[in-house]
Amino acid sequence: MKVLLTGGSGYLGSILSRKLIAKGHGVRILDNFLFGDNSIKDIKNNKKIEIVEGDIRDLSIVGRSLKNIDSVIHLASIVGTQSAELDPKTSIEINFMATRNIAELCKIYKIKQFIFASTCSVYGAQPNQLIAENSEVNPLDSYGQSKFQSERAILQAYDYPTILRLGTLFGASYRMRFDLAINLFIAQAMNKEKITVFGGDQWRPFLHVDDAAEAFSFALENKMEGIYNVIWKNITINQMAKDVKKLVPTKIDISKDIVDKRDYKVTGAKLEKFGFKAKKDITYAVKEFKEKIQDDVKNYTDEKYSNYKSFFNSKSLQRKVYTQGPIFKQ
Ligand SMILES: NC(=O)c1ccc[n+]([C@@H]2O[C@H](COP(=O)([O-])OP(=O)(O)OC[C@H]3O[C@@H](n4cnc5c(N)ncnc54)[C@H](O)[C@@H]3O)[C@@H](O)[C@H]2O)c1
Repeated sequence: MKVLLTGGSGYLGSILSRKLIAKGHGVRILDNFLFGDNSIKDIKNNKKIEIVEGDIRDLSIVGRSLKNIDSVIHLASIVGTQSAELDPKTSIEINFMATRNIAELCKIYKIKQFIFASTCSVYGAQPNQLIAENSEVNPLDSYGQSKFQSERAILQAYDYPTILRLGTLFGASYRMRFDLAINLFIAQAMNKEKITVFGGDQWRPFLHVDDAAEAFSFALENKMEGIYNVIWKNITINQMAKDVKKLVPTKIDISKDIVDKRDYKVTGAKLEKFGFKAKKDITYAVKEFKEKIQDDVKNYTDEKYSNYKSFFNSKSLQRKVYTQGPIFKQ
């Protein structure tokens, strides 16, 4: 199968691209390399990989990228609440409008399958219940809203899409991110710093990034259709900090300022019925951090490991992403 993978050099995409070529698929990556292309350097010359450098907002590039493609996996996005909130108009352009265009082009080009990376953030704050795919959605911020609007547009534009609503990711990747809760906690503990918890009683569904990549590959190979939650397990932020502390002893500092109000428990039973089960846990993540990440990462607080800090600080990145607006610097 020949797959167009947007966002293929990101935290999730750099793992998924390798998984797909290992399974014998051809992969065309469409990415504007907001965070560089180091994450895919060693696979760039693989016969099964083709790279298109470009912005998903550019219709002509998307159109050309769709030639001779069987299936599309669409990951490219401004990812995370803080990053999306920097300039909500840009997030709408990239996360929603470009996604709608891609879905429409997929229909015109008769692409066999369209798989979209959505997020459990569409559920917002709904404590005291177990949320399934047909539960109400309640996105709290422009990131969640743009993802939910995209889901609706895709369902309208393309006949039988696959939408995977992922839990918050964690774990090692070729493009490391330390702006994700579990990764940050592990990095703090391994650097003998206190784990900083904001609020702490909020429930969240989590998912290892390698399991997330496996879920996309599973959906592709089984030609799944419909909306699926993909999670490993639900856990409170406090409990998660305690679990990390058990594996890497340190102290926990709890701040009562709740920065992120998302609070929800999600069931992944629908996908599990088809035979997919996320397996990788925090013990696995700590082990891989010690074995693969620790030596390479000199400073986990460096801006390159945080989407928000990168967008906020880097002028060249701002020129690539923003056409005007509050964050745009000449
Ligand atoms: N990381 C998480 O916890 C999480 C949770 C739920 C859903 N998701 C979804 O999974 C997907 C991948 O997330 P990630 O963590 O790998 O993010 P990431 O920020 O590491 O990767 C995003 C990739 O998209 C590319 N990109 C961004 N805007 C683009 C544009 N306009 N044109 C072309 N390429 C562009 C970037 O260069 C980058 O390679 C996203 O759709 C995200 O919403 C992620």
